[in-house]
Amino acid sequence: MTTFRSVRLSQRPVGLPSAETWSIDPEEMPELKHNEFAIKIELISLDPAMRGWLDDRPSYLPPVEIGAIMRAGSLGTVIESSNQRFPVGAQVVGNFGATEIAISDGTGARVINTDLASAPMYLGALGMTGMTAYFGFFELGVPRAGDTVVVSAAAGAVGSIVGQLAKINGCTVIGIAGGKEKCDYVTEALGFDVCLDYKTDIPMRKQLGAALQEVGSKGVDIYFDNVGGEILNANLAYLSFGARVVICGAISQYNATEITPGPSNYMNLLVKRARMQGFLVFDYENKFPVAQRRIGKWLAQGKITAPETIVKGEITEFPETLNRLFAGNNMGKLLLQIN
Ligand SMILES: NC(=O)c1ccc[n+]([C@@H]2O[C@H](COP(=O)([O-])OP(=O)(O)OC[C@H]3O[C@@H](n4cnc5c(N)ncnc54)[C@H](OP(=O)(O)O)[C@@H]3O)[C@@H](O)[C@H]2O)c1
Repeated sequence: MTTFRSVRLSQRPVGLPSAETWSIDPEEMPELKHNEFAIKIELISLDPAMRGWLDDRPSYLPPVEIGAIMRAGSLGTVIESSNQRFPVGAQVVGNFGATEIAISDGTGARVINTDLASAPMYLGALGMTGMTAYFGFFELGVPRAGDTVVVSAAAGAVGSIVGQLAKINGCTVIGIAGGKEKCDYVTEALGFDVCLDYKTDIPMRKQLGAALQEVGSKGVDIYFDNVGGEILNANLAYLSFGARVVICGAISQYNATEITPGPSNYMNLLVKRARMQGFLVFDYENKFPVAQRRIGKWLAQGKITAPETIVKGEITEFPETLNRLFAGNNMGKLLLQIN
């Protein structure tokens, strides 16, 4: 009998998830039913949204149940199959969870070709991350050449792609990231025009005002928000006429144990006839192939770089790896590669 380990939700966290949040124990692989196949998982995607899925409150997806395998995008090789579409040896990506072996009936799964792109790309720039950047930026940001675009979590998985899409579209791009090393990377390797370090003592509102002057811009045309909080508020203070604020995420609030105050500068939306709108990447699923083709082309042409932080280890490293996102301990897409 084959045994494997999965990351299961043991108890709901208050604040940052801890060791007690999870249980990771050996279990036996069940017999495959008709149409099912077993996947040996090699890569697990770590996403800030995972924190929200642990809370028992209404959201866009039901919470992960206590005792259930942690929901996660993952990728691996089929090792046993009774499904012709997913034969033994095929490499597949899907919502297989944080586990060493997953059983699937093929729902939401697809076979990938790692001759065309590396395996991590299918969870990163060509996966949910790239799709989030693409549809958030183009569908909600509605960019025009010459726009001034500000992106938070600029060295992260989504933010790094958004800024590069903005450059491809002739925009001036200001990134916001934590620390000099990340800021240097964002300007030097990713080609953003400026990057602001929100971890210095200089308030973001002051930094942003100075940066807009430096790039010769009258205001923020698109703010792509990955973090919420004070950084969102600072951007609202500088909106240009008809600006678009794209609410992609609010990682600064995901582990909050108290109610976070709303942005006090929101009345500028009225003054500037601006729009602030949230979105969910899943809503654009039917258009993913087009976005994947375009991003794939830009990657091949070297117009987009997709940074990755790949942690190599055992499944037991999932909890610590997830928390790296909240400490800013990742550059680009964060993945756990299972030994
Ligand atoms: N709407 C959708 O459909 C959708 C889909 C996918 C992702 N998202 C959202 O997109 C955002 C980015 O996700 P990602 O996967 O690309 O993660 P990521 O940006 O690669 O990683 C998270 C980054 O957030 C920054 N961060 C952490 N705590 C922070 C804080 N308190 N204040 C400011 N920055 C903080 C850290 O960078 P620093 O070192 O710079 O602090 C960290 O590296 C998240 O909010 C996520 O929930 C939304």
